[in-house]
Amino acid sequence: MLSFLPMITILFAASAQALHTVNITNNCGYGVPTLDKFPSTTSAGTQSFTNSTIQAGAFLDTGYCGTTGGGCTTVDITMNDMLSVVVVDLIPPHMFSVPVAFSYFNGCDGVGASCLSSGCDNAIRDPPETSGIVTCTADDAGVLITFCPP
Ligand SMILES: *[C@@H]1O[C@H](CO)[C@@H](O)[C@H](O)[C@H]1NC(C)=O
Ligand SMILES: *[C@@H]1O[C@H](CO)[C@@H](O)[C@H](O)[C@H]1NC(C)=O
Repeated sequence: MLSFLPMITILFAASAQALHTVNITNNCGYGVPTLDKFPSTTSAGTQSFTNSTIQAGAFLDTGYCGTTGGGCTTVDITMNDMLSVVVVDLIPPHMFSVPVAFSYFNGCDGVGASCLSSGCDNAIRDPPETSGIVTCTADDAGVLITFCPP
């Protein structure tokens, strides 16, 4: 019985320490970087968001995007304790509106993907697809999303 305690303590500590960050950079010269944070409502103008778990969609609001990025290029972000999953989501009603790239930092540094045109390979257009999904198992991985990457 006692032998389980250290393991539980370690698991709890690891879980309590995880801190994930989403940063959004906008090089387009227009639009508002927006993070639709589940379960919160859309937060316009968000540049950086940090939390122990993150479930969100990031998009560049150009005035015609829906509140969860409908009609616009959207990056789906799911970050839990030791698993982060990020992918460009072009599943309708999402659709390509601006080029985007993302890469991990603070773990899995530089690993990522980009979708620079409506025909890009690294995006999901139908739910069963897995193209463009990039995962990271670093505890505190963050992801930098760049709209209109150089
Ligand atoms: C993410 O944003 C935070 C807060 O602005 C900043 O301190 C950090 O350097 C940024 N990291 C990257 C990789 O963009
Ligand atoms: C922040 O993390 C906590 C703990 O995992 C979670 O319950 C909460 O929903 C998160 N908040 C947001 C806005 O994602």
